[in-house]
Amino acid sequence: MFQASAPGKIILFGEHAVVYGRPAIAAPVTGVQATATVTPGRPGHGLVLELPDVGQRVAVTADSAQQPLAHLAALALHALALDPPPAWVVTVRSTIPLASGLGSGAAAATAIVTALAGAAGVALDPAQVSALVYESEKRFHGTPSGVDNTVIAYGQPVWFVRGQAPEPFALRRPLTLVIGDTGIASPTSIAVGDVRRAWQAEPARSEALFDDISETTWAARRAIEEGDGATLGRLLDRNHGALQALGVSSAELDRLCRAARQAGALGAKLSGGGRGGNMIALTAPAQASQVTAALLAAGATRAFATQIA
Ligand code: PMV
Repeated sequence: MFQASAPGKIILFGEHAVVYGRPAIAAPVTGVQATATVTPGRPGHGLVLELPDVGQRVAVTADSAQQPLAHLAALALHALALDPPPAWVVTVRSTIPLASGLGSGAAAATAIVTALAGAAGVALDPAQVSALVYESEKRFHGTPSGVDNTVIAYGQPVWFVRGQAPEPFALRRPLTLVIGDTGIASPTSIAVGDVRRAWQAEPARSEALFDDISETTWAARRAIEEGDGATLGRLLDRNHGALQALGVSSAELDRLCRAARQAGALGAKLSGGGRGGNMIALTAPAQASQVTAALLAAGATRAFATQIA
């Protein structure tokens, strides 16, 4: 009846600091995606959300507050003025690993909202989709900056500052990234909570690290606009160092970043909440397969090259 997809995402620069008002640069990853399909359901049964990847089937009611995606679907029904709820089944499938910094929750949510709007014959703009998805992000992890829902709903690289309209971002030339997964699921809320406790205990130290990340992100914007890959690589390394100092890296993430650099990557860092999940390495296109192989040899459970255009 109606199908919509949404890409995964990576944060190139600025995670964690973005929660404290500093800028971040994020981009969609089209090699992985979530897809929502709306089909007719049983008359009188209202809206049902099927999540076969996690073995869940949830009836969407006005008070589906428990399940973040069912809560989101209820909000979407309201925004689309679908009252009473139509007897539809929304089935969500995803190739985006969960809790790994690739935006799996925001992508599933974006696909659901877009598919429901499509089935209802209503056109929503990216800002409306992003605002709805932000509501479910809040349920996944307490105090999200909004970067995930923004980059996924807009479907293009963005310069993001919390509370401001996102700036879609022009790349001088495409970036070749290799994404390596530690295979360790790491809920964003835990790393974000630890960063908050450290900031409360030692605000000056944390603020200095956020400022350092902000400087790196501004420099990265210039390097991206100028197409200067060598500088961008060094800035990825510097951002990773600041994230280590914030305590959100891990032995596995550090090992994968080192392996990527040794295999010829221009630079590497963790991406997203950290502790586990994914890292990214910037490479020349010709080096991508060798960096991918090095990440797998260093223990990545999956590694793939992607182009950010
Ligand atoms: O783990 P992810 O990919 O959802 O990224 C979280 C990014 C943080 O900056 C750590 C948190 C946030 O809300 O921006």
